Amino acid sequence: MITIQKATPEHAEGIASVCIDSYWATYDELLSSEYINRMIKEFYTHERIIKEVTTTSRQWNGWIVAVDDGEVVGAGAGGMISENHGELFVLYLDPERRKEGIGTMLLDAVTEELMKHGAKEQWVNVTKANDKGIPFYEEKGFHFIHEQDEYGIVEGEDFKALRYHRVL
Ligand SMILES: CC(C)(COP(=O)(O)OP(=O)(O)OC[C@H]1O[C@@H](n2cnc3c(N)ncnc32)[C@H](O)[C@@H]1OP(=O)(O)O)[C@@H](O)C(=O)NCCC(=O)NCCS
Repeated sequence: MITIQKATPEHAEGIASVCIDSYWATYDELLSSEYINRMIKEFYTHERIIKEVTTTSRQWNGWIVAVDDGEVVGAGAGGMISENHGELFVLYLDPERRKEGIGTMLLDAVTEELMKHGAKEQWVNVTKANDKGIPFYEEKGFHFIHEQDEYGIVEGEDFKALRYHRVL
């Protein structure tokens, strides 16, 4: 049975593993290996995730995990970006576990927490042409607002992200 719960340090390794596997499965054809490796190095170190599960705030609500038989199979996190706007910062699943409803459960849990913090609207950034993510958000009522540079690009990289929004 899948449970959705607030992550604790014991989930740190599973969060990193699910996010890294999903990064490669999702972005292999959209982004360069150099960019992917740089992001993985920035976001998915053990130290960083431990800090992120132990230190939460209005701006960073902490990781929520989907656990199946003791194993992390998905992870997501959100936080407030203004008085009544919340953002889904990250949402990844074990690539083998897509389309079972786990993403919906995680999005709902992240969103519920944002709403407790007063969110009336919600944002998410999706890499342009990410067809493993965009149809999911559209299904959930998000609408495309505008295109911007992908997070953390360096000179010579021309990757784009799409900003999506929904009213809660
Ligand atoms: C995006 C993601 C988290 C969605 O989670 P999921 O568990 O696969 O999605 P769900 O099973 O809850 O799907 C919910 C609905 O969206 C639809 N959907 C999800 N992904 C879809 C896709 N790629 N294409 C078309 N429809 C899709 C499902 O069919 C389902 O519709 P239904 O309720 O009518 O059956 C997951 O697929 C994933 O990890 N993708 C790769 C990583 C990624 O892109 N993350 C987002 C980065 S911003």
